[in-house]
Amino acid sequence: MSKFSKFPYDAPTPPKPMPVLRADYSPPPFLVTDTALDVQIHDDHTRVHATLRMKRNPAASAGGALTLNGEAQDLKEVRLDGRKLAAAEYEVTPEHLIVLKKLVPDGGKPFTLEIVSTHEPHKNTALSGFYQSGDMLCTQCEAEGFRRITYYPDRPDVLARFRVRIEADAARYPVLLSNGNLIGKGRIAGGRLRGRHWVSWEDPFPKPCYLFAMVAGKLDRVPDKFVTQSGRKVLLEIYVEPGNGSQTAIALRALKNSMRWDEEAYGLEYDLDRFMIVATRFFNMGAMENKGLNIFNSDCVLARPETATDGDISFVERVVGHEYFHNWTGNRITCRDWFQLSLKEGLTVFRERQFVEAMNSPAVERVREVRGLRIQQFAEDSGPNAHPVRPESYLTIDNFYTSTIYQKGAELCHMLHLMLGETGWQRGMKLYVKRHDGSAATCDDFVAAMSDANRVDLDQFKLWYSQAGTPLLKVTSRYNKKKQTYALQVRQSCPPTPGQPKKRPLHIPFAIGLLDKSGRDLIGTEILQLRKPVENFTFKNIESEPIPSLLRNFSAPVRVDYAWRESELLFLLAHDTDSFSRFDAGQTLFNRILLRLVAAFKAGRKPAMPEKFIAALGAVLADKTLDPAFAALLLQIPGEHEIALLLAAAGKTVDPAAVQKARDALRRAIAREHRDLFWARWRDLAPDPYGVDGKAMGARALKNLCLGYLGLSGDGKALAAAAAQVRQSPNMTDQAAALGVLVQSGDKLRIRALMDFYARWREDELVINKWFAVQASAGRGDTVRRVRELLKHPDFDRANPNKLRSLIGGFAGNLFAFHAASGAGYRLLVEEISKVDKLNPQMAARLAGAFDRWRSFDPARQKLMQAALKELQAVRGLSTNSYEIVTKSLASPGRQAKRP
Ligand code: TRP
Ligand code: ZN
Repeated sequence: MSKFSKFPYDAPTPPKPMPVLRADYSPPPFLVTDTALDVQIHDDHTRVHATLRMKRNPAASAGGALTLNGEAQDLKEVRLDGRKLAAAEYEVTPEHLIVLKKLVPDGGKPFTLEIVSTHEPHKNTALSGFYQSGDMLCTQCEAEGFRRITYYPDRPDVLARFRVRIEADAARYPVLLSNGNLIGKGRIAGGRLRGRHWVSWEDPFPKPCYLFAMVAGKLDRVPDKFVTQSGRKVLLEIYVEPGNGSQTAIALRALKNSMRWDEEAYGLEYDLDRFMIVATRFFNMGAMENKGLNIFNSDCVLARPETATDGDISFVERVVGHEYFHNWTGNRITCRDWFQLSLKEGLTVFRERQFVEAMNSPAVERVREVRGLRIQQFAEDSGPNAHPVRPESYLTIDNFYTSTIYQKGAELCHMLHLMLGETGWQRGMKLYVKRHDGSAATCDDFVAAMSDANRVDLDQFKLWYSQAGTPLLKVTSRYNKKKQTYALQVRQSCPPTPGQPKKRPLHIPFAIGLLDKSGRDLIGTEILQLRKPVENFTFKNIESEPIPSLLRNFSAPVRVDYAWRESELLFLLAHDTDSFSRFDAGQTLFNRILLRLVAAFKAGRKPAMPEKFIAALGAVLADKTLDPAFAALLLQIPGEHEIALLLAAAGKTVDPAAVQKARDALRRAIAREHRDLFWARWRDLAPDPYGVDGKAMGARALKNLCLGYLGLSGDGKALAAAAAQVRQSPNMTDQAAALGVLVQSGDKLRIRALMDFYARWREDELVINKWFAVQASAGRGDTVRRVRELLKHPDFDRANPNKLRSLIGGFAGNLFAFHAASGAGYRLLVEEISKVDKLNPQMAARLAGAFDRWRSFDPARQKLMQAALKELQAVRGLSTNSYEIVTKSLASPGRQAKRP
């Protein structure tokens, strides 16, 4: 058969891709009990001989042909119970292999299907299936990559035991890995296959094929061990490209911490004798939880203080934990279908956050989580690609690995945890594991376990899974001095999203506190259960009018609108006992002020600066009893995208230049007012330069925040200090922060600093990615030109997702430069997406998401962005991935593509 591609690119009009609907789910017609793969790796192709032990599924409707998924392969042979099938006995389409119905045994009788096919890993630039990454070969099968390795029922509810034999040249591929336990290995004696060797692996746990993994390469191995709570010894191994072995200590420590934490917090123990992590340079996402053989993007596992920032190090710990926790939430219990993706991702992000909070400062971590959610998920949820945590339809599932599935999904777990308490949550988890271990489950199953274990009604809560959009809580208060009562009224609403014009009221846990004038907590933290569109609550014995502290610890993924007086917010910023609400009072002040400033700049007025707020920030800066990491969060000015989102939510058009002006003006005013204090703190915060503990990291965060305020207020001394810091600091956190300040300042010192930095780190790809990103993110007029230069830089490689994310992703996320009024930024991105789409559709579609908020901008930009989307839509042979994002972005609001 002819190979490759989803549809014939040379046909005049490719067929419109068909959406997959959640409502169409039906159980798999055939089951696979055992999967044996014999994989022969050769220089120019890989040959796979799959032997599948199968039977009709008694739980499915009877009859029907045997249909397997398959793509980008050359089918060589099909055998049924040992007999080679004639060409007329099966049919091959670009996406399927169909064996005639009459040949397939009925009545649940097992049969054996053998399939021999070949494919070409070195040509696989989509990085899905089996592909080449540098000198190694590796797999990525989630979500639908396994069908590029062999023909198979590629769906998560078909669970089979896997046995894999890999054979390859021993010199080129000394390391051959797959899931589970090693059961044999040997060398091929002689003849044509001399110099080859083989390794066999067996995974005793039945799994869906998306958790299959295979790696071949010349790799360094860093071993370690772990003893589980029941006393079993587990071999831990990290495999890296030669020379990177010294960068695995942080990941190994994080892995052992994760294993211990899951035992202590959940009673969940690791279940194989071996746990392996492989670092790869070409990877579409962060990492992948393949059973017993996690594959990681190198930037999520390699780290050492000289080359990784504190942020990078925390990220490695987080991702290692995330993938490890999937072993139970994802692998032992997997998803019935891809609409249930958040069942594993939302829950695993929640578990990862609990872990990170347990290892570090919970207050700091919670603020970081919420900031991330607001920037990414709130934006997604108010745009044309908004979708529920459990979507109803997709063209390609790759596009649904979103902030909504991950971050909002985690917030749903956070709400359940809050409502049920730690004990109730654990009861629910135990029941969930007991009921569904070894099988494929749904979001409904998960909520049912929580509800049954605790005898609580979660029917209304379940709407969170099906309803998209960020709810808004409008809160008003009334104090009655005579009766000493305080009344709160909460009105919930949710804006329309594509396909969902009208929303039903949600069950929302709304955590609040009331503070008196001395900062005393009058009612502690009370969780109000909101169920009706309007709810009223009255608090008694309140002796003076309190200040409400709302949405404590971000108890639900909603926006809150309450008319605090400025003095009240300043009070909360100084005194709230809930650290998240304390942070949020500062954010509300920042936001209000920035919106006023943007309006003033747009109207050509010179705005007044908020003296009291600036004084309050000074108090935070001067407070040496405050955790420096938390102080840095309180003092951090919201980013340009956050301001753009606020403007859009307020129904105002976004003018990127005015946003930048407003933000710069406020930052400068703060820096000028507290110049001496910023310098003093910058000087006396003296973190251990090599320390990567929370204390050193927090001190560095605040120190570099000081440098940022000073450097971006035109303080020449600060820029000189930044240049010195890039040259002299022994750690990457300081170097990267200072380089960022210099590049953003536009000062000529930046040129030398960039050159020196490049010369020093040119051998280290991950550091050079930072060098690309810092330049692409500069909110300056010459950034488009600079990015065009960098696209031609010998270290840039369009086929490498990390480089795409650094340079092109960095640029697309640059509000000021990407949205240049000339449209030059849009043109650049259209050109790049068109090129990337031919190599790697998943990455192209992600980049195309940068156009989705076009409706927030002024008419001139709207037109340019719309034209850019239409140009993309017209690209010949555009991938289904990009087609889906582009088409949904262009669709008029409120409409959702339905099946034609
Ligand atoms: N399941 C992975 C996670 O831990 C996500 C992932 C990794 C992925 N690689 C991918 C998803 C490629 C789609 C395509 O979150
Ligand atoms: Zn995950």
